[in-house]
Amino acid sequence: MAIPAVFLLFSGFFTRFLPGYAAVLPKYPSQALPLTSLFNNKAAASVGNPGSANFDGAGGAYDSQFLPTGSWEYDGLTSQFALPSSWDENEDNVLAQGQVLRLQEPTFVHELHFLYAGDGTGAPVESVFTLNFADKSSQQVDLYAKNWWVWANINRAAIITPYHFEKTGINLNKTNMFEWSSSVPSESPLESITFPPAATSNRMHVFGLSITPSTTDASNGPALSVRRARFTTRWQDINGVRAQAVEVTLANLLPGSTLSQNTSITTPHTVELVGSGVQTVSAGVINRLVPADQARVDVFVTGATTNGNAVVQIRDSTGEIVATSEEFPTSPLVENYTPDTDSLSMHETPSWWNAAKYGIFIHWGVYSTPAWAPPSEYAEWYDWDLRQPPNASNPTWVHHLETYGEHVIYDDFIPDFTASKFNASAWVDLFDRAGAKYFVLVTKHHDGFALFDTGNTTHRNSVQLGPKRDLVSELLQTAKAEKPDLHRGTYYSLPEWFSPDFAKYGFGSWPGGLAHNAFNVSPALEPYTGRLDIDDYIEDLQFPQMIDLAVTYDTEIMWCDIGGPNKSLDFAATFYNHAMSQGRQVTMNDRCGILPDFDTPEYATFGSIQPAKWESSEGMDPFSYGLNTATNASEYKNGTTIIQTLVDIVSKNGNYLLDIGPTAEGEIIAPMMNNLLDAGSWLNFAGDCVYDTGYWFPGSQDPNPQANTAPARFTTTPTTFCIVAFTQPIGGKLTINKRLPVLTGDDIVFLRPQGPSAPLTWNVDENSGTLVINIPESEVMAVDYAWAFQVHYKLN
Ligand SMILES: *[C@@H]1O[C@H](CO)[C@@H](O)[C@H](O)[C@H]1NC(C)=O
Ligand SMILES: *[C@@H]1O[C@H](CO)[C@@H](O)[C@H](O)[C@H]1NC(C)=O
Ligand SMILES: *[C@@H]1O[C@H](CO)[C@@H](O)[C@H](O)[C@H]1NC(C)=O
Ligand SMILES: *[C@@H]1O[C@H](CO)[C@@H](O)[C@H](O)[C@H]1NC(C)=O
Ligand SMILES: *[C@@H]1O[C@H](CO)[C@@H](O)[C@H](O)[C@H]1NC(C)=O
Ligand SMILES: *[C@@H]1O[C@H](CO)[C@@H](O)[C@H](O)[C@H]1NC(C)=O
Ligand SMILES: *[C@@H]1O[C@H](CO)[C@@H](O)[C@H](O)[C@H]1NC(C)=O
Ligand SMILES: *[C@@H]1O[C@H](CO)[C@@H](O)[C@H](O)[C@H]1NC(C)=O
Repeated sequence: MAIPAVFLLFSGFFTRFLPGYAAVLPKYPSQALPLTSLFNNKAAASVGNPGSANFDGAGGAYDSQFLPTGSWEYDGLTSQFALPSSWDENEDNVLAQGQVLRLQEPTFVHELHFLYAGDGTGAPVESVFTLNFADKSSQQVDLYAKNWWVWANINRAAIITPYHFEKTGINLNKTNMFEWSSSVPSESPLESITFPPAATSNRMHVFGLSITPSTTDASNGPALSVRRARFTTRWQDINGVRAQAVEVTLANLLPGSTLSQNTSITTPHTVELVGSGVQTVSAGVINRLVPADQARVDVFVTGATTNGNAVVQIRDSTGEIVATSEEFPTSPLVENYTPDTDSLSMHETPSWWNAAKYGIFIHWGVYSTPAWAPPSEYAEWYDWDLRQPPNASNPTWVHHLETYGEHVIYDDFIPDFTASKFNASAWVDLFDRAGAKYFVLVTKHHDGFALFDTGNTTHRNSVQLGPKRDLVSELLQTAKAEKPDLHRGTYYSLPEWFSPDFAKYGFGSWPGGLAHNAFNVSPALEPYTGRLDIDDYIEDLQFPQMIDLAVTYDTEIMWCDIGGPNKSLDFAATFYNHAMSQGRQVTMNDRCGILPDFDTPEYATFGSIQPAKWESSEGMDPFSYGLNTATNASEYKNGTTIIQTLVDIVSKNGNYLLDIGPTAEGEIIAPMMNNLLDAGSWLNFAGDCVYDTGYWFPGSQDPNPQANTAPARFTTTPTTFCIVAFTQPIGGKLTINKRLPVLTGDDIVFLRPQGPSAPLTWNVDENSGTLVINIPESEVMAVDYAWAFQVHYKLN
């Protein structure tokens, strides 16, 4: 098929012609929306007069000297914001109170960009904007608002300042503003945007808004633009060459309402990088790109340099070059990290982690002996909870007194943490059958008891005490030998509650210093069994232990907890370079006190696509990671909950880390095991809709009773598109009230235990785009948890 005519559309945008190339694609557009008329809050102040602003309602403020001014561009220039030319003079942001921002004229929009911050101090908070269209329809956009700072930790942010003003004094936690972008369905021109209603806490502040307008002339075929071409730190060995992944995102800027064969890419198009020194070793392939959609593809290259430029070049299925992008700055593959933020901030999650989607988290330690918490507390916090406060109104204190008596202290549980039935082969076999692609084992929780050989840093570990075994080594070595495709991760708590050595660094719920006996019996200060004399907690314990996990135990995921005082810059450089020297790629979460590869919402998910990688973790128990014998197993997450949570997260660009709590003997109790296996049985036949998929740019379908549509999630691969319905289709039909990238000639099959069904009949209503797939009741009845339909693109 010949496409060239299609690209003549862009003649009006030509910035230049490269010899031998076809059309130069227009730069991805972005237009700042004027917001000044809605400004109602002053967020920034200067050192001389910090009281002149009140961002958070408590007298807090950003320091204006760290904020960019004027026209400001983010993410490879793809979102442009109009910031104040000088902060600290006037009001500078919109504190959301249900205001309505009218566009100067109704405009078809492809993507909407926000520069914002929440003014709370904790986890992200749902914040809903409403888009109002000319055809009187509306659409809600869930911006999961990150707060301007998060205690003892760091958020990934667009703008990072080193501190903020408080009413009196300065708070030295890093303080941020964030960028987030959302697709817009573009069935009709956008007329106005309604801000979230007023809130009393975690209020939403918007500093900038911008739109990427659609291209409305559909007469010449797809309106392509390269949204970004990002030289990543991911790589792959290709024919003995270490090739760097360049993530290219291609947009079709036509409005969704124009979707047809003629306005879409429907045949294999290859994507290459061409530029100063850059050689494409393996091209990316885009088989399908419909209006209002974006496709992401990895192109593998060598030879990128620090100061070069390269263009994205697209060939059609005949091999003819049909389009070329404007230039993007190149950046070489980092092969040697240095312990500084410039170098380390480039690092990102490896491809294997992005493809894996599903991991098992294991909270196992001395707390598995009492294995108890009142409803809505974490059982692994037993040692801390016992003392909060130590009196008869505290259920943990009462439980301890009644069960063990006042003379049993926490360290007395160590000998009963026996691991006597621990069988590493059985565990990794279970994780594999559960469909997990990685695991993360707690190697030391806040109680300071390590499950590995901590050498001369401390003898408070399972090698010297309790089981007298190196449990981390057993599990990681067994996984390496028996399930080489299962990736191995380690959780590590940076602080310890009661380590005397941590006292000088203590903060919040991690004060350090010996625990006071909860029952005022002797000894009044409890021992810290196994402690060795060291000079400095960070230098002599935390840092060497982390290095050991990286270098001796070869962990692939460093899953830190809590953040706080750390030596993680040095750690990360060693961790990444050690892995690189062995030809492995590894990753680190957002709780190591420094630059993260991914965010980790806890017992929470994001309700919308987050382009930056993230991973949700939660226990199978409704509120505990460690085993809690007070929880009735009927309350555990079952197959339905696990699968629907996983698919929902994957459809929004996240991974799911589902936690189990083994017993002190090292057994995974039957109800936990069974629920894992239930989920595994579904993944066994429908895993193609989960593993190694990408999110679909326009997002999910939420239930709409009027339209008789089921909640559904969507995932993509280069050759397929998946629809996963969360309620059993009834009446022999599945109805999806969204314009999907499904075109005449595609096959749609239903994924079921005995293998994919024969192609099903289906049709799309040309006006509304609604898809109806016909599926016999007998087929859907034979499947539990979720109903996966896989569209195979016809590749002409
Ligand atoms: C971070 O904020 C908390 C709570 O206000 C405060 O206790 C702590 O000292 C701050 N950390 C730093 C490094 O200033
Ligand atoms: C698509 O293009 C073909 C060939 O140019 C043309 O015959 C057909 O009418 C077009 N269809 C639509 C829906 O524009
Ligand atoms: C327990 O301690 C808390 C905090 O000191 C106090 O408010 C509460 O009254 C005490 N309750 C009992 C039953 O002693
Ligand atoms: C450990 O588990 C494996 C796999 O389930 C099993 O084959 C083996 O017999 C078990 N070993 C022991 C000592 O029970
Ligand atoms: C622990 O041993 C290492 C290597 O043998 C040594 O470099 C380090 O100083 C020792 N640390 C302490 C606290 O004794
Ligand atoms: C981690 O350590 C770095 C370097 O010492 C420090 O700047 C950072 O604030 C620490 N992180 C936290 C969350 O305390
Ligand atoms: C656990 O839940 C089941 C089902 O709701 C119930 O029948 C059973 O009595 C509960 N068990 C306990 C110990 O609460
Ligand atoms: C699974 O758990 C969900 C949520 O608790 C519940 O609504 C559903 O009925 C359970 N499914 C089965 C088969 O027990």
